[in-house]
Amino acid sequence: MPILTRRDLVLSGLALSASSAISASAWAQTNALLSTVSEAAAFSPGPREKLLFDFGWKFQLGNGCDPGHDLDFGKGQGDFAKTGEFDFATAKLDDSKWRSLNLPHDWAVELPFVWDNEQQSHGYKPLGRRYPETSVGWYRRTFEIAAADQGKRISIEFDGAFRSALIFVNGCFIGRNDNGYAPFSFDLSDFLHYGEKNYLVVRMDASFGDGWFYEGAGIYRHVWLVKQDKLHLGQWESYVRAKMEGDAAVLSLGTVVQNAGDNQEYARVRWQILDREGKQVASAEAAAQQVNSDGSATYTATARLAHPERWSPETPILYSAIVSVEAAGKVRDAERVSFGVRSLRFDKDKGFFLNDVPVKIKGTCNHQDHAGIGAALPDRMQYFRVSVLKEMGSNGMRTSHNMPTPELVEACDRMGMMMLCETRQMSSNPEGMAQLEAMIKRYRNSPAIILWSMGNEEGYLNKDVVGERVIAEMQQRSHELDPTRVCTAAVNNNFGTGVSKVLDVMGFNYNLKVPDDYHKAHPNQPSIGTETASAISTRGEYFTDKLRNVMSAYDTNQPGWGETGEEWWKFYMAREWLAGGFAWTGFDYRGEPTPYGWPSVSSQFGIIDTCGYPKDTYFYYKAWWGKEPVLHLFPHWNFAGKEGIEIPVWVHSNLDSVELFVNGTSVGSQKVEPLTHLQWKVKYAPGVIEARGTKDGKVVLTEKRETTGAARSIKLTADRTTLHADGEDVAVLRVEALDADGRHVPIADDLIEFKITGAGGFLGVGNGDPNCHESDKEPKRSLFNGLAQVIIQSTKKPGEIIIEAKAGGWNGKLTATRLTITTEKAELRLSVG
Ligand code: GAL
Repeated sequence: MPILTRRDLVLSGLALSASSAISASAWAQTNALLSTVSEAAAFSPGPREKLLFDFGWKFQLGNGCDPGHDLDFGKGQGDFAKTGEFDFATAKLDDSKWRSLNLPHDWAVELPFVWDNEQQSHGYKPLGRRYPETSVGWYRRTFEIAAADQGKRISIEFDGAFRSALIFVNGCFIGRNDNGYAPFSFDLSDFLHYGEKNYLVVRMDASFGDGWFYEGAGIYRHVWLVKQDKLHLGQWESYVRAKMEGDAAVLSLGTVVQNAGDNQEYARVRWQILDREGKQVASAEAAAQQVNSDGSATYTATARLAHPERWSPETPILYSAIVSVEAAGKVRDAERVSFGVRSLRFDKDKGFFLNDVPVKIKGTCNHQDHAGIGAALPDRMQYFRVSVLKEMGSNGMRTSHNMPTPELVEACDRMGMMMLCETRQMSSNPEGMAQLEAMIKRYRNSPAIILWSMGNEEGYLNKDVVGERVIAEMQQRSHELDPTRVCTAAVNNNFGTGVSKVLDVMGFNYNLKVPDDYHKAHPNQPSIGTETASAISTRGEYFTDKLRNVMSAYDTNQPGWGETGEEWWKFYMAREWLAGGFAWTGFDYRGEPTPYGWPSVSSQFGIIDTCGYPKDTYFYYKAWWGKEPVLHLFPHWNFAGKEGIEIPVWVHSNLDSVELFVNGTSVGSQKVEPLTHLQWKVKYAPGVIEARGTKDGKVVLTEKRETTGAARSIKLTADRTTLHADGEDVAVLRVEALDADGRHVPIADDLIEFKITGAGGFLGVGNGDPNCHESDKEPKRSLFNGLAQVIIQSTKKPGEIIIEAKAGGWNGKLTATRLTITTEKAELRLSVG
């Protein structure tokens, strides 16, 4: 049996950290979790080695149509004539002039914007077949493999890369992967040079896209080198299905053992079930079977877990199964599968039930990019983003429109965020089925995932019998691989034909006029709002201005197909049979700059901007989704030049009533109607507006907005001031300007420059302005409505990171500032040296 290491114990304690921190603020929660993030990913029980392959790469752009600028690839059209003569993946190529970088990496975010309307939905980046100079990237890595590794099965695993990857090792072509989201791997064992240097080259080509939104370019997720015994557990074959029976959970356990060796083996499989403290709470064993050379065998068993703690968004409690395969008296391979115990049910009349309790899904759809870093998110950013959503009271996230990165699913498992996990290609063709299978096998043990989505808004499939057949095939495969979950798809038209005819759970996108009649006509089909709202707003703007491409942040704007936040949520709350829904979107994202187009380069659909700063509607959701008392007053009160003009003053609150004061005088108290904002009209005069919120006859919360003076100083605040010195951890810094009295200036737009020295480096900047064309990769950024963000990454050497911020020169009009972040020695993830 594998002996449990300290790392196993730390890992099993993760759920404890997660659940005990739930009541604290989102930041505290994130911090508690992150103290163990690296531990989780580094875990490797038994003899298997899973090595991070992210550090020490070389990179250069190629060319999609000129072989002369593409390492001569494709020059004579004989490229694949021989398997082993790709010289660029041998010692013959000198890459000393190539750029050095670490993964994850997204070169799209480094490119300038181009005013080309064809590129609008992808964020105006020069990618695609018309931009051959910037659409191909070459990654190269030299590494050593020990002589002692000969005889092992060594494979390379990509968690996802954008897009059309060609992989070469030691001059040999290894394989290709087309789509940009599903993971892929290759067995390199035959091609490696043992006891010597090896050369790995990956050519990525982002000329084609998978979606209609910003998708990034390059190896933007982790890469791993995995060394295993030739007798090993099949990738993602292990499952743990927990079903409550009385006070106990019956665990159905299964896995597949593969034998890549030359001799047949007799192998048995054991499962150790650990609780969150690392204590063994159950075990099971499957008898030895013969596994033929180049063959495989399936193993199943059951175990009983007495009085299990249930997983839920409030109690994200995880268990672990250590699965190990033994043959010839030795543990030959083992892995840890994290799972939760919880039940799921979609009811046609009563919506969604988690652990037999009705739960309305308060969800958001999200793409995977973030300010400053594009699609290449360090793991910690997943926790940051989930924490911002949880703080809003959200309990659900849809991974629109693609299979997510493993770290996002892990963050949702550990922080308590239910997921609607979506595959990219809605198809029963081999590619579509392969994407679906990878997604389900990879994530079927994650308690966070409550529903699989087969895809989004397929016009033709929505209306045609072809859609019926495709979904029937996909659903059937999904049920085979995962009998514990049902499926939906996001449907926006032709309701009742094609796709929607066969779905386990009907998924409505927008169209609030449809669900009532549809439900009457299809009373046996449960339903959910797969996509709602698409409300548009710009953070910190209170007058819609077409000349400036901004939309006011009052919850009043939506495109023809959308709804305001208040509209959709009232609609869904009024219907018990609707399981809840997912608002488009949680975070703003690059691309889809509705409604204006250029020079807007980002969407404005977010409840939160691209940096993670809340827009005002965030507090509508917080009031009606969260559990805490909320009183949010807006707009700011800095409207010089608008004196005497009537300005709407809004409050989002879940208290009983709110009274508004303008310069000390009451302008009236209003009763809060459930799920509804409050508003007053106030003639602008500089000074102060104040809201006083009452609960049970007592003022319990007050909020003020004051006319501030001009910006005088810069303030930096880090989400965490102690990081792991592991070369991966990041701090997310809020950058703002204060007036002479230390008040946040909500309209400041000063250009702030950053200097980062010491034990960390600069990763990216943003400010949430959908119209900003400043580079995300230069250490300077203008404040947008008072805020910007800078992301800092630790190095592997512990020490101090000093972040200095100045505006207009060190003696400029704002007083400069500096912040120190400490990085502490961390157990490094095992990685390829
Ligand atoms: C939906 C689509 C989303 C996004 C959104 C914008 O129809 O599914 O991907 O484009 O519209 O409102």
